[in-house]
Amino acid sequence: MTESRLYIEGGRKICGEIGVHGAKNSVLPVLAGALLSGGVCRIHNCPELSDVYASCRILRSLGCRCGREGDVLEVDARSISDYEISEGLMREMRSSIVFLGAILGRLRRCRLSFPGGCELGPRPIDIHLSGLKKLGARISEDHGVLDCSFSGAVTGADITLPLPSVGATENIMLAAVIGSGETVIRNAAREPEISDLAEFLNACGASISGHGSSTVSIKGVGGLHGCEFSVMPDRIVAATYMGAAAITGGELMLRGVRPSDMYSTVSVYEQMGCSVYPYSDRIYISAKKPLCAVKTLRTTPYPGFPTDCQPIVMAVLTRAKGTSVIVENIFENRFRAAPELLRMGADIKAEGKVAVIEGVPKLSGAATVAADLRAGAALVVAGLAADGTTAVSNLNYIDRGYESIETALRSIGAKIRRA
Ligand code: UD1
Repeated sequence: MTESRLYIEGGRKICGEIGVHGAKNSVLPVLAGALLSGGVCRIHNCPELSDVYASCRILRSLGCRCGREGDVLEVDARSISDYEISEGLMREMRSSIVFLGAILGRLRRCRLSFPGGCELGPRPIDIHLSGLKKLGARISEDHGVLDCSFSGAVTGADITLPLPSVGATENIMLAAVIGSGETVIRNAAREPEISDLAEFLNACGASISGHGSSTVSIKGVGGLHGCEFSVMPDRIVAATYMGAAAITGGELMLRGVRPSDMYSTVSVYEQMGCSVYPYSDRIYISAKKPLCAVKTLRTTPYPGFPTDCQPIVMAVLTRAKGTSVIVENIFENRFRAAPELLRMGADIKAEGKVAVIEGVPKLSGAATVAADLRAGAALVVAGLAADGTTAVSNLNYIDRGYESIETALRSIGAKIRRA
């Protein structure tokens, strides 16, 4: 079978109005939370992404039932029959590690294979494991398989994270919800997706407070139940469409977004010279003037500028007049779009954590390869502004985080097809 590619004919302005689907980074922990609930959860605004399907395969392998009707995913977790996730399923998606806290919280035992490194460089789980140990989990590792168990009820712990890891905060929250006593997570991640998970768990009967701040408190409860919940909008997808409008000199109204979660990203597009107007659940962006460089852009944990938006903004900056500097502080290997953007005529020097981008007057279409999810999206964004045709392969990465990106972009004026 030949692999499909996206073909983008650049040079068309991105204009119009577009809705933004539910957040991948919220729905994955919420699906793990559905397993923990032990009830029937109806999850609205659930995007159709390959990572969501991978999560459903994990849920089914453990004995849950998952069914989709439109954008609603129903998970019936009343009976689960297994506490082990196979190596094959674990390898499909690195973020499956979030099932560890959920299975452990529900069944007091969980076995799964150690998630390996990933495209973004090594992604250790030491903070997840030391947090779970503080909660009282016994953890052993044998030939890459983790076996975790609680011998009794979770009685609460005071846990200070060495850095505000999103996944570790989620795993500790999930493992601590059912039990007695209070767990406090200090230096917790403050990302909006953490708050979404906390609100989902509270809708299932949990008692979590402080989410969104760096101190999260979890009062153990006797059990949870199912709920109806709507997943927050995907702020990275929103930033990608904003990038598409910015780089093509277009004008776009994004619907179904939460501008309050996106201040740092909005500010970067403003620094480039775009006009951005946030409304309660919409953002308007217009790029009438030529783009200008951004002096220094540093990725930091929320509320700072998100690492996931960095490759997309890098692609836009290739066309911004002047010199931009990006410092990537979260992941080691997050300039993977750069060599492909060079093939398109960009001028980028990337070394270690720092990339220096000299804006160029034009990009040219080229055959490119997506090296990871956001690097792939960055190439699509660059392709929209390049002369001629850009081909992007390795679409399995892009499909992990964007619901049919070509259909979405076509609806706002792009000439893009999958073949
Ligand atoms: C999540 C997001 C990802 C985003 C990232 C940072 C999901 C599914 N993924 O990933 O899209 O880019 O947050 O906002 O929500 N670290 C350790 N030890 C640990 C855990 C993390 O050293 O035990 C390090 C990582 O290597 C990385 C940094 O901490 O350098 C941040 O990672 P973390 O916040 O945990 O990211 P993820 O939860 O993996």
